[in-house]
Amino acid sequence: MLNAEINEIGQFIPLHYHYQMLSDASRMTAFKSAIEKIVTPKHRVAELGSGTGVLSSFAAKKGAQVWSVEFNPALVSASRRFISENGLSHKVHISQGDATNWLPPEPVDLVICEMLHSALLREKQLHVVSAFRDAHLARFGVAPRILPNATLLGVQPVNQCYDFNGYFAPVPLFQSPYYTAEDCSPCSDPVVYKVIDYDNAHVETFEAEVAFQFKNDSNVNALRFITKSLLTMDAYTGQTIDWHSQYLILPLCKAFEMKAGQEMRVKFKYRPGEPIETLNNAIVIETAEQKQDKDKFSMIA
Ligand SMILES: C[S@@+](CC[C@H](N)C(=O)[O-])C[C@H]1O[C@@H](n2cnc3c(N)ncnc32)[C@H](O)[C@@H]1O
Repeated sequence: MLNAEINEIGQFIPLHYHYQMLSDASRMTAFKSAIEKIVTPKHRVAELGSGTGVLSSFAAKKGAQVWSVEFNPALVSASRRFISENGLSHKVHISQGDATNWLPPEPVDLVICEMLHSALLREKQLHVVSAFRDAHLARFGVAPRILPNATLLGVQPVNQCYDFNGYFAPVPLFQSPYYTAEDCSPCSDPVVYKVIDYDNAHVETFEAEVAFQFKNDSNVNALRFITKSLLTMDAYTGQTIDWHSQYLILPLCKAFEMKAGQEMRVKFKYRPGEPIETLNNAIVIETAEQKQDKDKFSMIA
């Protein structure tokens, strides 16, 4: 398949990368708890992009009937085998196909989709969820509950160390939100630039124009993108089960020496599902000192 076609349909993650997802304790615990909280034996469930089938298995173990779709044929056969070896073949039916134009044979109560790449780049979460929701409503007259409910996107200026054994290499990188990264210091509070409510959202350009005030003198050389998804909310207590995708740290082409009290304006726009480079290339930084000299930054390849 050509790169352009892959970019159009989604990101297909080969089997050997699924170990990372299966052994990511924060991801697995959050999704397992949310699925177990919602699903009952009366539920019919769909999963979009089911990979190894693990999230479908959580719903099936709660007694639900599950229909899943996965694009990557190698994963379809592997997951059918895993589902069978876990004794769940009678509960989970896996189809090969593109989730943007797939529907299960019956209406479902819940649809699960975890294509939550950082900043909603690369993977097609919003494309597949909105297409499924709209097609399900048109065909069955009812919209399913969606897991996750919502995703919140934020951005924050940071100072990231790019020294690798004495070699300076400002590359894009990912960080766990669940541990403090010793080599990355926040320079200002994060700002939310987009909230996606999957019951209503459609694919659109995300456009941000945010301002950061600095409390202390700071050397800003990168932006940290924060992606937090609300998987489910308890109707009575209002308590939520959340999951943070990995932080994405994008380097700027130069460092900005910001003084306490100064303001930095950050602008960018991109469409969900686009490559990381698209966002990196779109970043524009303005400081009071540089108003005449608007720097446009592009990714250091
Ligand atoms: C992040 S993985 C999650 C896999 C699994 N749901 C889990 O939680 O372990 C996303 C999966 O969606 C599949 N995928 C991506 N785009 C797709 C599409 N348009 N249609 C069907 N599957 C897709 C990928 O191949 C990958 O297996």
